Amino acid sequence: MDGRALDPSDNDLHIDDWWEHHHQGDGNYKLWLTGSRPERVWYPLAIESRLRRGTVVLNIGVGLGHCTRALVQRGCTVHALDIAPAALAKIENVVTKTWLADNVSALPANTFDVAISHLVAQHMSDEQLTSQIGAVIPALKPDGVFALQFGTALDVRQNDLPTTALEALKMGSVVRSLGHVARLVDASGGQIVWADRIGMFPEYGSAWYAVHITRPDFPRPTTKRSGSVAGALRFAMLRALSAGNRLASVLGSRR
Ligand SMILES: C[S@@+](CC[C@H](N)C(=O)[O-])C[C@H]1O[C@@H](n2cnc3c(N)ncnc32)[C@H](O)[C@@H]1O
Repeated sequence: MDGRALDPSDNDLHIDDWWEHHHQGDGNYKLWLTGSRPERVWYPLAIESRLRRGTVVLNIGVGLGHCTRALVQRGCTVHALDIAPAALAKIENVVTKTWLADNVSALPANTFDVAISHLVAQHMSDEQLTSQIGAVIPALKPDGVFALQFGTALDVRQNDLPTTALEALKMGSVVRSLGHVARLVDASGGQIVWADRIGMFPEYGSAWYAVHITRPDFPRPTTKRSGSVAGALRFAMLRALSAGNRLASVLGSRR
Protein backbone atom coordinates (compact mmCIF):
# COMPACT_ATOMS: atom_id res chain seq x y z
CA MET A 1 0.00 0.00 0.00
CA ASP A 2 1.78 3.13 -1.17
CA GLY A 3 -0.69 5.68 0.17
CA ARG A 4 -1.15 7.07 -3.33
CA ALA A 5 -4.42 8.82 -4.12
CA LEU A 6 -6.12 7.00 -6.97
CA ASP A 7 -7.66 8.64 -9.99
CA PRO A 8 -11.20 7.30 -10.57
CA SER A 9 -10.86 8.05 -14.28
CA ASP A 10 -7.90 5.66 -14.58
CA ASN A 11 -9.43 2.94 -16.73
CA ASP A 12 -6.52 0.57 -16.14
CA LEU A 13 -7.53 0.30 -12.52
CA HIS A 14 -9.96 -2.55 -12.06
CA ILE A 15 -12.92 -1.92 -9.75
CA ASP A 16 -11.81 -4.67 -7.33
CA ASP A 17 -8.37 -3.05 -7.01
CA TRP A 18 -9.97 0.35 -6.46
CA TRP A 19 -11.88 -0.90 -3.42
CA GLU A 20 -9.03 -3.03 -2.10
CA HIS A 21 -6.71 -0.02 -2.21
CA HIS A 22 -9.11 2.11 -0.21
CA HIS A 23 -9.81 -0.57 2.37
CA GLN A 24 -6.09 -1.09 2.85
CA GLY A 25 -5.56 2.65 3.18
CA ASP A 26 -4.13 4.45 6.12
CA GLY A 27 -7.24 6.53 6.67
CA ASN A 28 -6.66 9.25 4.10
CA TYR A 29 -9.15 7.84 1.64
CA LYS A 30 -12.02 6.86 3.86
CA LEU A 31 -14.30 9.13 1.88
CA TRP A 32 -15.01 6.33 -0.58
CA LEU A 33 -15.79 3.80 2.10
CA THR A 34 -18.28 5.93 4.00
CA GLY A 35 -19.14 4.95 7.50
CA SER A 36 -22.87 5.30 7.74
CA ARG A 37 -24.16 5.17 11.29
CA PRO A 38 -26.57 2.29 11.96
CA GLU A 39 -29.54 4.56 12.64
CA ARG A 40 -28.94 6.33 9.31
CA VAL A 41 -29.30 3.00 7.54
CA TRP A 42 -31.78 0.84 9.45
CA TYR A 43 -34.57 3.42 9.90
CA PRO A 44 -34.61 4.76 6.32
CA LEU A 45 -34.47 1.21 5.00
CA ALA A 46 -37.43 0.33 7.29
CA ILE A 47 -35.76 -2.72 8.79
CA GLU A 48 -34.94 -1.55 12.32
CA SER A 49 -37.82 -3.50 13.90
CA ARG A 50 -36.65 -6.72 12.24
CA LEU A 51 -33.14 -6.54 13.71
CA ARG A 52 -33.52 -8.49 16.93
CA ARG A 53 -31.44 -11.03 18.82
CA GLY A 54 -31.09 -14.07 16.60
CA THR A 55 -32.04 -12.33 13.35
CA VAL A 56 -29.80 -13.71 10.61
CA VAL A 57 -28.47 -10.80 8.55
CA LEU A 58 -26.45 -10.54 5.35
CA ASN A 59 -24.70 -7.16 5.34
CA ILE A 60 -23.54 -6.25 1.83
CA GLY A 61 -20.80 -3.62 1.44
CA VAL A 62 -19.27 -3.23 4.89
CA GLY A 63 -17.47 0.11 4.41
CA LEU A 64 -15.85 1.06 7.70
CA GLY A 65 -17.77 -1.69 9.49
CA HIS A 66 -19.96 0.44 11.78
CA CYS A 67 -23.25 -1.24 10.85
CA THR A 68 -21.71 -4.70 10.85
CA ARG A 69 -20.43 -4.27 14.41
CA ALA A 70 -23.70 -2.72 15.59
CA LEU A 71 -25.66 -5.66 14.18
CA VAL A 72 -23.46 -8.08 16.11
CA GLN A 73 -23.90 -5.99 19.27
CA ARG A 74 -27.68 -6.28 18.81
CA GLY A 75 -27.37 -10.04 18.95
CA CYS A 76 -27.95 -10.65 15.24
CA THR A 77 -26.12 -13.46 13.50
CA VAL A 78 -24.20 -11.55 10.86
CA HIS A 79 -22.69 -12.56 7.55
CA ALA A 80 -20.75 -9.86 5.69
CA LEU A 81 -20.27 -9.68 1.93
CA ASP A 82 -17.88 -7.31 0.18
CA ILE A 83 -15.92 -6.98 -3.03
CA ALA A 84 -12.66 -6.33 -1.13
CA PRO A 85 -10.80 -8.96 0.92
CA ALA A 86 -9.30 -6.15 3.03
CA ALA A 87 -12.79 -4.99 4.04
CA LEU A 88 -13.74 -8.47 5.19
CA ALA A 89 -10.43 -9.01 6.98
CA LYS A 90 -11.24 -6.12 9.31
CA ILE A 91 -14.50 -7.63 10.57
CA GLU A 92 -14.01 -11.37 10.15
CA ASN A 93 -13.38 -11.77 13.88
CA VAL A 94 -16.76 -10.33 14.81
CA VAL A 95 -19.08 -11.86 12.20
CA THR A 96 -20.26 -15.43 11.70
CA LYS A 97 -19.05 -15.63 8.10
CA THR A 98 -17.60 -13.47 5.38
CA TRP A 99 -18.28 -13.73 1.66
CA LEU A 100 -16.45 -12.23 -1.29
CA ALA A 101 -18.78 -10.66 -3.84
CA ASP A 102 -17.46 -13.03 -6.52
CA ASN A 103 -18.64 -15.94 -4.40
CA VAL A 104 -22.19 -14.67 -3.87
CA SER A 105 -23.73 -17.65 -5.66
CA ALA A 106 -22.42 -19.88 -2.84
CA LEU A 107 -24.66 -18.23 -0.23
CA PRO A 108 -26.70 -20.89 1.60
CA ALA A 109 -30.38 -21.16 0.62
CA ASN A 110 -33.24 -20.21 2.98
CA THR A 111 -30.91 -18.60 5.51
CA PHE A 112 -31.32 -14.85 5.93
CA ASP A 113 -34.10 -12.91 7.62
CA VAL A 114 -32.69 -9.64 6.34
CA ALA A 115 -30.15 -8.66 3.68
CA ILE A 116 -28.93 -5.04 3.61
CA SER A 117 -27.29 -3.08 0.80
CA HIS A 118 -26.70 0.63 1.48
CA LEU A 119 -24.54 2.84 -0.73
CA VAL A 120 -23.41 -0.13 -2.81
CA ALA A 121 -25.80 -0.42 -5.80
CA GLN A 122 -24.65 2.93 -7.13
CA HIS A 123 -21.17 1.37 -7.50
CA MET A 124 -22.50 -1.56 -9.54
CA SER A 125 -23.41 -2.11 -13.17
CA ASP A 126 -26.85 -3.51 -14.01
CA GLU A 127 -25.24 -6.85 -14.77
CA GLN A 128 -23.49 -7.01 -11.40
CA LEU A 129 -26.57 -5.85 -9.52
CA THR A 130 -28.94 -8.27 -11.26
CA SER A 131 -26.63 -11.15 -10.58
CA GLN A 132 -26.15 -10.16 -6.90
CA ILE A 133 -29.90 -9.74 -6.33
CA GLY A 134 -30.51 -13.06 -8.12
CA ALA A 135 -28.10 -14.81 -5.73
CA VAL A 136 -29.43 -13.14 -2.57
CA ILE A 137 -33.12 -13.91 -3.21
CA PRO A 138 -32.86 -17.72 -2.80
CA ALA A 139 -30.64 -17.15 0.26
CA LEU A 140 -33.54 -15.37 1.98
CA LYS A 141 -35.91 -17.22 4.25
CA PRO A 142 -39.45 -17.41 2.80
CA ASP A 143 -40.42 -14.28 4.77
CA GLY A 144 -36.99 -12.64 4.47
CA VAL A 145 -36.43 -9.17 3.07
CA PHE A 146 -33.59 -7.71 1.03
CA ALA A 147 -33.46 -3.96 1.79
CA LEU A 148 -31.68 -2.21 -1.06
CA GLN A 149 -30.81 1.48 -1.35
CA PHE A 150 -30.03 3.02 -4.74
CA GLY A 151 -29.47 6.47 -6.24
CA THR A 152 -31.74 8.27 -8.70
CA ALA A 153 -31.02 11.39 -10.77
CA LEU A 154 -33.59 14.17 -10.45
CA ASP A 155 -33.05 14.83 -14.16
CA VAL A 156 -34.68 11.62 -15.38
CA ARG A 157 -32.62 11.67 -18.60
CA GLN A 158 -29.55 10.79 -16.52
CA ASN A 159 -31.07 7.56 -15.19
CA ASP A 160 -30.73 4.03 -16.56
CA LEU A 161 -27.97 4.80 -19.06
CA PRO A 162 -27.27 1.70 -21.15
CA THR A 163 -23.52 1.81 -20.55
CA THR A 164 -21.87 2.44 -17.23
CA ALA A 165 -18.37 3.92 -17.26
CA LEU A 166 -15.83 2.45 -14.87
CA GLU A 167 -15.36 5.92 -13.43
CA ALA A 168 -19.06 6.08 -12.50
CA LEU A 169 -18.77 2.72 -10.72
CA LYS A 170 -15.85 4.00 -8.69
CA MET A 171 -17.47 7.33 -7.91
CA GLY A 172 -20.78 5.73 -6.99
CA SER A 173 -22.66 7.80 -9.52
CA VAL A 174 -24.68 5.05 -11.20
CA VAL A 175 -28.27 6.29 -11.05
CA ARG A 176 -31.48 4.42 -11.78
CA SER A 177 -35.20 5.04 -11.88
CA LEU A 178 -37.46 3.04 -9.60
CA GLY A 179 -39.07 1.44 -12.65
CA HIS A 180 -35.67 0.31 -13.91
CA VAL A 181 -34.80 -1.25 -10.57
CA ALA A 182 -38.19 -2.98 -10.56
CA ARG A 183 -37.31 -4.55 -13.92
CA LEU A 184 -33.87 -5.65 -12.66
CA VAL A 185 -35.51 -7.26 -9.63
CA ASP A 186 -38.03 -8.94 -11.88
CA ALA A 187 -35.21 -10.28 -14.06
CA SER A 188 -33.47 -11.53 -10.90
CA GLY A 189 -36.49 -13.60 -9.93
CA GLY A 190 -37.70 -11.45 -7.04
CA GLN A 191 -40.42 -8.94 -6.34
CA ILE A 192 -40.52 -5.49 -4.76
CA VAL A 193 -43.07 -5.25 -1.97
CA TRP A 194 -42.24 -1.80 -0.62
CA ALA A 195 -40.50 1.30 -1.92
CA ASP A 196 -39.93 4.82 -0.74
CA ARG A 197 -37.77 7.84 -1.37
CA ILE A 198 -35.42 8.11 1.61
CA GLY A 199 -33.28 11.11 0.72
CA MET A 200 -33.33 14.23 -1.45
CA PHE A 201 -30.12 15.96 -2.50
CA PRO A 202 -31.03 18.77 -4.90
CA GLU A 203 -27.54 20.19 -4.52
CA TYR A 204 -26.25 17.02 -6.22
CA GLY A 205 -29.28 16.60 -8.50
CA SER A 206 -30.06 13.24 -6.95
CA ALA A 207 -32.24 11.32 -4.53
CA TRP A 208 -32.02 7.99 -2.73
CA TYR A 209 -34.64 5.29 -2.85
CA ALA A 210 -35.03 2.14 -0.81
CA VAL A 211 -36.88 -1.01 -1.79
CA HIS A 212 -37.72 -4.26 -0.06
CA ILE A 213 -37.13 -7.25 -2.30
CA THR A 214 -38.57 -10.65 -1.42
CA ARG A 215 -38.82 -14.09 -2.87
CA PRO A 216 -41.62 -14.29 -5.44
CA ASP A 217 -43.71 -16.48 -3.15
CA PHE A 218 -43.67 -13.86 -0.39
CA PRO A 219 -47.36 -13.13 -0.05
CA ARG A 220 -47.77 -9.66 1.41
CA PRO A 221 -46.14 -6.25 1.97
CA THR A 222 -43.35 -6.50 4.54
CA THR A 223 -43.89 -3.22 6.33
CA LYS A 224 -46.49 -0.55 6.57
CA ARG A 225 -46.40 1.51 3.42
CA SER A 226 -45.37 5.12 3.49
CA GLY A 227 -48.23 7.26 4.72
CA SER A 228 -47.58 9.79 1.98
CA VAL A 229 -49.66 9.95 -1.17
CA ALA A 230 -46.45 9.76 -3.22
CA GLY A 231 -45.36 6.65 -1.33
CA ALA A 232 -48.74 5.01 -1.84
CA LEU A 233 -48.62 5.86 -5.54
CA ARG A 234 -45.13 4.42 -5.92
CA PHE A 235 -46.29 1.25 -4.20
CA ALA A 236 -49.34 0.96 -6.45
CA MET A 237 -47.13 1.43 -9.50
CA LEU A 238 -44.80 -1.33 -8.36
CA ARG A 239 -47.71 -3.69 -7.86
CA ALA A 240 -48.90 -2.86 -11.36
CA LEU A 241 -45.39 -3.37 -12.74
CA SER A 242 -45.05 -6.78 -11.20
CA ALA A 243 -48.44 -7.66 -12.69
CA GLY A 244 -46.94 -7.01 -16.08
CA ASN A 245 -48.36 -3.54 -16.61
CA ARG A 246 -45.95 -1.29 -18.48
CA LEU A 247 -46.12 1.65 -16.11
CA ALA A 248 -42.37 2.06 -16.14
CA SER A 249 -42.58 5.17 -18.28
CA VAL A 250 -44.60 6.90 -15.58
CA LEU A 251 -41.72 6.31 -13.19
CA GLY A 252 -39.28 8.15 -15.39
CA SER A 253 -37.72 5.34 -17.39
CA ARG A 254 -36.80 6.18 -20.95
CA ARG A 255 -36.98 2.61 -22.22
C1 LIG B 1 -19.64 3.42 -0.14
S1 LIG B 1 -19.26 2.01 0.87
C2 LIG B 1 -20.79 1.80 1.78
C3 LIG B 1 -20.53 1.23 3.15
C4 LIG B 1 -21.75 1.07 4.05
N1 LIG B 1 -22.70 0.10 3.52
C5 LIG B 1 -22.42 2.38 4.33
O1 LIG B 1 -23.61 2.52 4.08
O2 LIG B 1 -21.76 3.29 4.81
C6 LIG B 1 -19.35 0.74 -0.35
C7 LIG B 1 -18.93 -0.62 0.19
O3 LIG B 1 -19.38 -1.60 -0.73
C8 LIG B 1 -18.30 -2.44 -1.12
N2 LIG B 1 -18.61 -2.87 -2.49
C9 LIG B 1 -18.38 -2.24 -3.65
N3 LIG B 1 -18.82 -2.96 -4.69
C10 LIG B 1 -19.38 -4.07 -4.16
C11 LIG B 1 -20.01 -5.22 -4.70
N4 LIG B 1 -20.16 -5.37 -6.02
N5 LIG B 1 -20.47 -6.18 -3.86
C12 LIG B 1 -20.31 -6.05 -2.52
N6 LIG B 1 -19.70 -4.99 -1.94
C13 LIG B 1 -19.25 -4.02 -2.75
C14 LIG B 1 -17.07 -1.58 -0.95
O4 LIG B 1 -15.90 -2.34 -0.79
C15 LIG B 1 -17.43 -0.80 0.31
O5 LIG B 1 -17.14 -1.54 1.47
